Amino acid sequence: MTMSSFLAFPMNNLKPAVFLDRDGTLIEDVGILTHPDQIRLFPDTIDALQRLSRNYVLFVVSNQPGISKGLVTSQQVASVNSALDDLLRKKNVTIRKWYICPHQRNENCHCIKPNPFFLQEAAYRYGIDLPRSFIIGDHPHDVYTGDTLGVFGLYLLTGHGARHLPELPADRLVFHSLLEAVHWISKHPQPAQQLDASVRRASAIIKKGGIIAFPTETVYGLGADVFNPQAVAKIFKAKNRPLYNPLIVHIAEIAQLAPLVADIPDVAWPLINRFWPGPLTLIFRKRQIVPNIVTASHPTVAVRMPLQPLAAKLIRLSETPIAAPSANFFGRTSPTSATHVMDQLQNVCDAVIDGGACRIGLESTVLSLTEARPRLLRPGAITQKEIEQVVGRLMLVDVPPAKAGSVESPGMLPYHYATKTPLCLVDSLAAFSRRPDVGVLLFAPSELLFDGPVELLSPSGDMIEAASNLYAAMQKLDLLGLSAIITNLTEETGVGIAINDRLRKASFKTVQPPTAHEKM
Ligand code: TXA
Ligand code: MG
Repeated sequence: MTMSSFLAFPMNNLKPAVFLDRDGTLIEDVGILTHPDQIRLFPDTIDALQRLSRNYVLFVVSNQPGISKGLVTSQQVASVNSALDDLLRKKNVTIRKWYICPHQRNENCHCIKPNPFFLQEAAYRYGIDLPRSFIIGDHPHDVYTGDTLGVFGLYLLTGHGARHLPELPADRLVFHSLLEAVHWISKHPQPAQQLDASVRRASAIIKKGGIIAFPTETVYGLGADVFNPQAVAKIFKAKNRPLYNPLIVHIAEIAQLAPLVADIPDVAWPLINRFWPGPLTLIFRKRQIVPNIVTASHPTVAVRMPLQPLAAKLIRLSETPIAAPSANFFGRTSPTSATHVMDQLQNVCDAVIDGGACRIGLESTVLSLTEARPRLLRPGAITQKEIEQVVGRLMLVDVPPAKAGSVESPGMLPYHYATKTPLCLVDSLAAFSRRPDVGVLLFAPSELLFDGPVELLSPSGDMIEAASNLYAAMQKLDLLGLSAIITNLTEETGVGIAINDRLRKASFKTVQPPTAHEKM
């Protein structure tokens, strides 16, 4: 065989593809499916696939270990796939091939290792350009599968995504939904190079005194060079943020801490060792060199070391700590995706680094170390209990009265994080079930049927998952022109404390939803 007859496709005719997991990515993961009637598409699946299919060849890759366990037959799996294929075809979406791995992960099958056969086969048989292709799934395994062949993996928080998130390395991008991932792909057809270039461009802008929106593991930040007061002033202007509200300074190396702070109390070290990089902000007495605009003339400075690798890289390449509040208008909901940033700040920041969804989705825990005993100023994903395990009893600070300027930590103002649509904490969600103009935030599945749109924050009732979806869900409902968004508080434990804190503040100005006739 000559070389030219061996290559099925000339190199310049190769097409990029997207390899999609089935359960938890295209359809709800409700356990083993044996019959087409059990198929439940996610609401955005069709739209997302139609968009993708304009530029990508589509494959579905499904791990069905139930086959090797004898819980479902290959024929039953094939019948479900075939029904789904028909359904998609009617919507003008063609799946080129359905690949099934029937094995359990610990069987060491050859479907995946040493090289995923389906990727090799697709490349050879269908002329797929693997380095321009993507794999999307809700299990960490899906995301790594393409690594050896240069296929870029994207992780979804749908399906079992949130449950397996702790197993996913920090440098992998995550998304709230398939549609969000598809939007990202459309802007990053060459993902690795483009991400790298966007962080480099952003760091050059920071060095020149511009402001950049960037992802962190908590929420997106809007950052500037901490040592450039004119640049920091642009943040306050862009956000319409009162000058009395100080910013958090983000560092990438522990060596960047000492130049900012007057001293590092002993109690700081075990906290730094345990929680940095991560979603814990520590407040120290500041050095003179930190500009007053950053700290709102307080004698203290808030510092945190983000875990998100793109944030860390931005700080390193900028060669300076970056002062950054959350990238939203003052008082409004913090953004947990680049799209949320653009909705609010598109015209006022110099660039946005799009790193997908924020894994934690709630702002960092803020802990003051300026007095003898550490004081918790803002609850967050790192809980009071976790901190107390390291440093003993904390002092809790009650929510102070809403007197601007007199507040120690203005994030403690009672009104914050708000949607434009009134958010109401109600005693009974059922009382609003017949209101198509009222959106519902649900923490766990409910028997109730609502006429209005419902955002389920965690199908398994998990608080960490609910936290990561909360702001995205609030933002989604906020765009629907509803009369009100209703919810109730969740259990006051663990990260539930931070969730309830944000919900109380976001709903501070509203008590009850308007009646059907009086729009607020
Ligand atoms: O997770 C986060 O903390 C995100 C990301 C971008 O890092 N940032 C964030 O920033 O939430 P911001 O500005 O929205 O909230 C900062 C909080 C505010 O409540 C502010 O009042 C408080 O930290 N803070 C900042 N400096 C302080 C200081 N010197 N003393 C007391 N509170 C301070
Ligand atoms: Mg999030």
